Amino acid sequence: METLRIGMLGFGTVGRGVADLLLNKQELLAQRTGMKLRLVRIATRTPERDRGLRLGNTEVTGDLHRVVDADDLDVVVELIGGIIPARDLVGRAMETRKHVVTANKALIAEFGAELFAMANAHGVQLSFEAAVAGAVPVIKALRESMAGNRIDLIYGILNGTCNYILTEMRLKKLPFHQVLADAQAKGFAEADPSFDVDGIDAAHKLAILSAIAFRTHLDFSRISLEGIRHIADVDIQWAEQMDYRIKLLALARLQEGLLEFAVRPVMVPRQSMVAAVEGVHNAVFVRGDFAGTTMYHGRGAGERPTASAVVADLVDLARDLRSGGKGRLPPLGVPVHHLRTLPIQNAAQRHGTFYLRLAVADRPGVLAEVSAILARHGISLDAVHQEGRSHVEAVPLIMVTHETTEERIALAMGEIETLESVRETPRTIRIESGLA
Ligand SMILES: NC(=O)c1ccc[n+]([C@@H]2O[C@H](COP(=O)([O-])OP(=O)(O)OC[C@H]3O[C@@H](n4cnc5c(N)ncnc54)[C@H](OP(=O)(O)O)[C@@H]3O)[C@@H](O)[C@H]2O)c1
Repeated sequence: METLRIGMLGFGTVGRGVADLLLNKQELLAQRTGMKLRLVRIATRTPERDRGLRLGNTEVTGDLHRVVDADDLDVVVELIGGIIPARDLVGRAMETRKHVVTANKALIAEFGAELFAMANAHGVQLSFEAAVAGAVPVIKALRESMAGNRIDLIYGILNGTCNYILTEMRLKKLPFHQVLADAQAKGFAEADPSFDVDGIDAAHKLAILSAIAFRTHLDFSRISLEGIRHIADVDIQWAEQMDYRIKLLALARLQEGLLEFAVRPVMVPRQSMVAAVEGVHNAVFVRGDFAGTTMYHGRGAGERPTASAVVADLVDLARDLRSGGKGRLPPLGVPVHHLRTLPIQNAAQRHGTFYLRLAVADRPGVLAEVSAILARHGISLDAVHQEGRSHVEAVPLIMVTHETTEERIALAMGEIETLESVRETPRTIRIESGLA
């Protein structure tokens, strides 16, 4: 039986899962591919550390070049993460004619164009199913199963850490910083959580999905980005009271040739499917003109779910090599030179309804002052909730607008913030009512 000789970079959470799966499911993988998938070598910073696996003949080394420069390997699995040194290592592996499988979304979102061109030039394949939504097979679904559709909308919950934090804030009625500390203690959030909570990780994944769905260049920098740090527990409780739920939503919508491209916290109806995605789970929704809306849901991270997706790419590669190794699938669904740049919709064109929360002085006439500014900007209100009189310095004033534009909201809130009766920076959260 032919052998697919595998080298791996990194032996952390995902690396351990991939090694476990490859070492313990050899027979199943051989039946499914007609090849023996052999983990020949792993390179990592601390090769001496025991990962609790029986490694057999698999060599573990501290020298990354024993993997990327090797001539006894067919494929390199990159599971180090980040850009340096992963970018150079992946490049080197491809230069020496080895295929690459990676789970590294930052690398694909920021340097995918350069790396796919290199893969093309060297006649190797670069696969990345595990880079978006872990075990959820959304890259294959978009690129292959939806290939006959014109897609106009993709959205989803792409960061399990944020979804876990928002879920816990709601269930336990705790503030953001307390839930974050708890998530860090449990290993659900990194020591430096900014990639997750500031929306960068979700934006990397949205950039990758959008390139496939809309044939756009991988352009992470054009995504408008807002994280969840400023979401207060009172916003979560108000959302609940109004039959909404707050989610960090990654959304790309193509309308009249303009792309709305955003990662931001939004309120979604409590009965919607997207609201039901809880805790560390991920979900992606894709709307196609023939398929309608399809939903992909599951574990977006973790040792075993992510390893499942990495090994799926190795299985695809083995099957492809067995049938002649032509790399029949362009990684982003079309050849890279067919990708285009779509114009981004600006704030004046982005319509919606909004939740507004102010902290205001508890005295008569404040609502009239605020309403006058909103009216001057052409914003009308659908609902107003004002807390009764109390003995505290500031009371919440909650408003829900009718349909307006983001630009008008930004201008009005800028003015409202300067009122003497307004005691804190106003909070605005977009309401997305039309989602599945
Ligand atoms: N964790 C998840 O659930 C998940 C889900 C989807 C995608 N991903 C992606 O998968 C990749 C790996 O994530 P992970 O969670 O497995 O990370 P991790 O647990 O931090 O593991 C990283 C591994 O790379 C090694 N490493 C890091 N820098 C190195 C260097 N300069 N030289 C040699 N070895 C180095 C580490 O070595 P030592 O252990 O020897 O120190 C460790 O074994 C990332 O791109 C991540 O975004 C992760």
